[in-house]
Amino acid sequence: MIETHGLGKVYGRGLYALRDLTLTIDKGEFVFLTGPSGAGKSTLLRLLLLQERPTEGEVIVGGRNLARLSQTEVQAYRRTVGFVFQDFKLITSKTVFENVSFALRVLGLPVEQQRRRTYQVLKWVGLQHRLNSLPEELSGGEQQRVAIARALVNEPHLVLADEPTGNLDPDLSLEIMNLFREINAGGTTVVVATHDRELIKWVGRRVVQLEQGRLAGAEVPQ
Ligand SMILES: Nc1ncnc2c1ncn2[C@@H]1O[C@H](COP(=O)(O)OP(=O)(O)OP(=O)(O)O)[C@@H](O)[C@H]1O
Ligand SMILES: [Mg+2]
Repeated sequence: MIETHGLGKVYGRGLYALRDLTLTIDKGEFVFLTGPSGAGKSTLLRLLLLQERPTEGEVIVGGRNLARLSQTEVQAYRRTVGFVFQDFKLITSKTVFENVSFALRVLGLPVEQQRRRTYQVLKWVGLQHRLNSLPEELSGGEQQRVAIARALVNEPHLVLADEPTGNLDPDLSLEIMNLFREINAGGTTVVVATHDRELIKWVGRRVVQLEQGRLAGAEVPQ
């Protein structure tokens, strides 16, 4: 699903955020990305999402070299990737339903299909009773579930999450991880960057450890 070859990203005057990273993540895998602050986790996710371009090396996703995509293909590619960030980035003036259905509207799906799919995914994250709430009326965990629903509504092949439980208490973190496990059980490849060792232990999947932009060691699933 994902291959990186000699991937490097340099910021400013020669600071390597990532250095010579060669990594394979199989289709359908659930992988944790961990390592100390500044190790390059978010940088790797940004490169996978094509928010930034590598300085060196290649990223291949689903057999396609991301550097070779045209502008139109980049847009299409991004729509096959769901992403969840720590600070949710929900649109504060829109309801839960609107926040989630937005991605489908952009795709130009018929309205009835938009409604059905949005309802389905909000039910799945347990928020079918909060469709008309505004983000500020929800708890942190509920907001995070809206962000996850939004990331999944157009059935991405790949889900990238950057510290998705960073603001949540342990119980909510486990709840969110369960959602990711369910997504993964449906065949979606999931990559989660986190510092949370307890969470990683609890979920028990492959761990990719970064240190100063390099691969520091990888554990195989149990
Ligand atoms: N836009 C940027 N400009 C300059 N340097 C950057 C930029 N983004 C990241 N860096 C640097 O790249 C390195 C890797 O940063 P990155 O955000 O990927 O780390 P991280 O592993 O996600 O850390 P954290 O756990 O704190 O989120 C850091 O040294 C950081 O300061
Ligand atoms: Mg980060």
